[in-house]
Amino acid sequence: MSLLLINCAADRELQAVTDSKKGGNVISEEVLGKWNRSCALCHINGEAGAPIIGDTNSWSERILKGEDALVRSVLEGLNSMPPLGYCMACELEDFKSMVNFMVGSG
Ligand code: HEC
Repeated sequence: MSLLLINCAADRELQAVTDSKKGGNVISEEVLGKWNRSCALCHINGEAGAPIIGDTNSWSERILKGEDALVRSVLEGLNSMPPLGYCMACELEDFKSMVNFMVGSG
């Protein structure tokens, strides 16, 4: 079961990487690894109402807040999202690239 989930996640993530490259935004493998170990848990399938990665509809209203506000939500947590999105090893710069990566804009 968990193996299936990982495979699934890898496919989605590959797609997202291809898309974000089009927008000129490339996420490093290191950051992607961190994303997979923490954020992916909720943001691949929309767990607990989480906005789904690369899904324009889920993100269109949130984007209006601006990148800084989105990053702040991750740092402080937001409703069902825990502070730091479970990524204790993430740096501020990591969160910034992750947010750009997730909303699908470069
Ligand atoms: C335990 C599940 C969970 C994890 C892990 C998680 N998130 Fe979230 N995330 C959520 C949920 C749920 C929301 C929607 C919160 C709301 O608006 O009520 C959310 C919202 C967001 C938002 C939008 C915030 C806003 O202000 O609208 C961003 C950006 C985000 N997550 C990024 C991340 C990143 C980056 C990580 C990994 C470092 C991460 N999340 C890990 C559940 C999670």
